[in-house]
This record gives sequence, C-alpha cells and structure tokens, in this order.
Amino acid sequence: MDHFNYRDGELYAEDVPVSSIAERFGTPAYVYSRATLERHYRAYDEALSERELLICYAVKANSNIAVLNVLARLGAGFDIVSAGELERVLRAGGDPGKVVFSGVGKQEWEMRRALEAGVRCFNVESDTELDRLNAVAGEMGVKAPISLRVNPDVDAGTHPYISTGLKENKFGIDIAEALAVYARAATLPNLEILGVDCHIGSQLTSVTPFLDALDRVLELIDALADNGIHIRHLDIGGGLGVTYNDETPPQPAEYVKALDQRIGERNLTLVLEPGRSIAANAGILITRVEFLKCTEHRNFAIIDAAMNDLIRPALYSAWQAIVPVQPHQDAEEKIWDLVGPVCETGDFLGKDRPLQLKAGDLLAVRSAGAYGFVMSSNYNTRNRPPELMVDGDQVHIVRHRETIEEQLAPENCLPE
Ligand code: LLP
Repeated sequence: MDHFNYRDGELYAEDVPVSSIAERFGTPAYVYSRATLERHYRAYDEALSERELLICYAVKANSNIAVLNVLARLGAGFDIVSAGELERVLRAGGDPGKVVFSGVGKQEWEMRRALEAGVRCFNVESDTELDRLNAVAGEMGVKAPISLRVNPDVDAGTHPYISTGLKENKFGIDIAEALAVYARAATLPNLEILGVDCHIGSQLTSVTPFLDALDRVLELIDALADNGIHIRHLDIGGGLGVTYNDETPPQPAEYVKALDQRIGERNLTLVLEPGRSIAANAGILITRVEFLKCTEHRNFAIIDAAMNDLIRPALYSAWQAIVPVQPHQDAEEKIWDLVGPVCETGDFLGKDRPLQLKAGDLLAVRSAGAYGFVMSSNYNTRNRPPELMVDGDQVHIVRHRETIEEQLAPENCLPE
C-alpha cells in the first residue's frame, strides 16, 4: 500500500494534489512520500518480536539523504556499497554501527574510511578481499568485523541482469568453498568473523528461492559451528519484489516470519537488506506531455522525462505504470508510446499504453522511488530532475533541479 491515490478525480501524493506540485516545481520531478517509506520500513521492522532483527536499507535503491534520514529516525541500519554511500548515511544521521558494507570491489581507502567510521560488518566477496581488509585493519591497529558473502547457486527466477546468486555471477564465494575460506579467515589476525551473508537477486516475487538459499546457508552455519567457528549474524540480503503491474510478491512480514521459522532455535541475529520493497512504491516521476505525434505506424506522446531520468524501461525492458494525474474525457483513447526527448530509439518510459491524452497533460510514472533518480544521468546534457518529499500536506525540496551551470562546473577547456 502507498500514499499515491486519486481523490476528487485527481492524483494526490499524501494530502497534496500532484498537479499543484507540478505547478510549483515544474516537471519532470521525482516525488516521494514520507508516510509510504515509513510504512514499508515498519512492515519489516515490526515483523518479529523474539529474534533480533536488523533492517539495513539498501542505500543504492534511493540514496537521497532525506530518504535515509527518514529511515534513520526509525532506527534503520543501512547496506552500503561505496564510501560515497557511507558519507550519505553519516550525513543523514544514520548509525554507522548498523551499517553493512557490501560490494565486490572495495578499495583500500573505502575500507579505511569504513573502519574509521565503525561499521558493523564488511560483507567480504572474495578470498583476496580478505587479505586486503586484513592488511588495512592491521595498519590501523583494529579488527575488521566480517561476513563472507556466499553464493548459494540458487536461481532467483528474476531478470538476468539483477540475478546475483548463480554460480556464473561475479558475486560472493562459491558456497562449496566457503568452509575453507572461513577457516583461512579465522587465521588472519586483524579480522573478526561475525556472520554469513548472501544476496540472490532482486525483484523476487516468491519466497521459495530465498528459503532454498537460506537452507544452504544454515547448513554452512552448522558446519562452521562443528569446526569451531560460531556465526552470530545471518544476512540474507535484499531482493523482495514489488508490484509494478500484476505481480503478487509476499508481504515483508510473511517473508520475514518464514525466514525466522526456518532459522529455528539457532541463536542468530537476522539481517535484511531491502531496497526496492521500501522505496519503489514510495515514489513517482511526474512528467508533462510536450507533443503528440501520430504516425502511420505508432502514436507517440513526447514527454519531458526521458531515459536519462529513469533508465529502467530502456535498460531492463521494465514495465512501470503510467497514469494520468488529472484524468479527463477530452480526448479519445489511443494506444501510445511514451517517449522522451533523448536522441535514441530506446528512449521510452512506456509502450503500448491505452490513454486519453492531450498536449500539456501531466502523467505520473509509478513505482519510481527505487532505482530511479539514483540511476539517472546527464545524457544529452539534460539537468537531472529535482527530488521532492511530501510529508502530509507539505512538500519539501530534498534535491533541487540541477542547473546547466552546475553540470558544466567540473569541466575545463585546454589552456590557450
Ligand atoms: N543487497 C545487495 C548486496 C544488493 O546487491 C542489492 C541490490 C540489494 C541488497 C537490494 O536489493 P532490493 O531489495 O532492492 O531488490 N537496478 C536494478 C536493481 C539492481 C539491484 C542490485 N542489487 C533495477 O532497477 O531493477
């Protein structure tokens, strides 16, 4: 459930008509709902009473510091993949003691910064990363808390670009080799083994692959215990899907309870890294129809948002709902391709959409709160859109619309 609903014949974000946001701030613009973010976070956080549960929101999904701050105020932890994301978490008032650091290519300076900040855990993705982290921690005279990210070889049944738990993916350590790697990690003096981590993919719409992965990870945890290595924290990653169209993913509470049951009596803290399921349906991208162009073959609605603002449709053929902000009967329904101004055929946000459109209409691309703004670019030297956060009847600018001046500032001509 989210807080973008029709009232009196037009789309609202919480208590604010979306049309008034477009009037005030222009289009295209990302609009987030604080109440929706909070609701989605709580759906995880309140799922268990008996076991210690740490929800580490995956910062990559939407890293705006206002979004992070809303979650930090609820006590969230964070899953980061770069030192940049760490700085965002700190700026947003997040607790570094609740941060897990994932990613296959952590650089030395990033490790140093994370150790300095006091992150909870490094999710180590390779044997060689162990040595690098051990060396950096040694230089600093500290111990680095670690989990090994194991690759359980489970088919997440999702889009190949966002499936990460198969043997052929670059992520994690083959679960068959994990015992040996843990044994070696235990001999490295500047590391402290804390947990096991895995993440099998994104936009999963069934719990079965998660439970399959969990079973394999639990088997490993039991085998480690037999070898004298005692695991305290089990991080099962992110990946729970959302409804973009007609998908029916499990509810977070149902999912977390199923995990908890499988873990059973084992004394383990459960860590989750949800991104999309917290942020996606807490955001929309609003855009205005610039021109209608009907050709013999197709009807194009040229809108002011483009692939540089939201790349998911172009990159993954992702389908996101596109709805009128102020539905009307002033035009006949036609089948439209919603395309942006960027000079590429792949520049579309939706295809074959039945809509009643006239030039100047406002549209909202739904489910745009995750992997939306964060994946935007300046392609075609387009200013990135503003990010706005609605909180009840208030709208806050949480990132202003970029200017051409800001875009050009880092660049220089060669000297005369
Ligand atoms: N943890 C790790 C280690 C991850 O790699 C990811 C996402 C997450 C957590 C969060 O997963 P989520 O709960 O959001 O599914 N850009 C793609 C999605 C890429 C996901 C990458 N990893 C998209 O727009 O669909």
